[in-house]
Amino acid sequence: MNALVVVAAGSGRRMGGPVPKQYLDLQGKAVIIHTLEQFYRYDPKIKIVVVLAKSHLKFWNKTSSSSEAALGCEVVTGGENRYDSVRNGLQLIPNGCIVGIHDAVRPLVSQETIGRCYRAAHESGSGIPVLEMEDSVRMITARGSENLERERLRRVQTPQVFKSELIRSAYDQAFAQTVTDDASVYEAMHGELTLVAGNPENIKITKASDLDLASLII
Ligand code: C5P
Repeated sequence: MNALVVVAAGSGRRMGGPVPKQYLDLQGKAVIIHTLEQFYRYDPKIKIVVVLAKSHLKFWNKTSSSSEAALGCEVVTGGENRYDSVRNGLQLIPNGCIVGIHDAVRPLVSQETIGRCYRAAHESGSGIPVLEMEDSVRMITARGSENLERERLRRVQTPQVFKSELIRSAYDQAFAQTVTDDASVYEAMHGELTLVAGNPENIKITKASDLDLASLII
């Protein structure tokens, strides 16, 4: 069975304004509805858990009745940071599933990316969407900065997809401040990851200009 944890419990303060970014309108639909519909389209039987902030329940209740993809979702409250929110969501996912963990604020994930990630996780335990770097990159050091070899670097997106019992056991470990994604949590316990191609439009909506860009892409 395919399953999905959508993390939507962030406060989204960087965007400003009274409505959290996952509930803002994007071409006639809330951002989170676009996100849920992409996965529902990939597999209408997928089990979806949405992780919400308690204070956002009113936004969710208003939004979720507008789409079939949202109506069947289970809801759980999130935590202080993304790590805790993912862990809360994973508690509702049974063993024996292939489970994706996806940022609610990435509505432009493609069907192809979703398929590549779920297939890789089914075969190897994990499927992580990445993109090559187009810019040159530098690392800040004690003395200034140094160039990093671009060909060896990748940008990491979501959904990050895993065999459910493997990612759940990894999330039972202690929280590390340095961890910013699920792949790193998995890797710390189970070792090597399978990387697959993401899609460049799969941006994380963080600032107001990202919403304008997403609107243009749609
Ligand atoms: O803050 P950041 O941009 O990394 O958030 C990525 C995703 O994680 C967002 O969808 C956000 O709602 C979610 N999140 C969460 N719980 C938190 C912090 C972030 O579900 N405490």
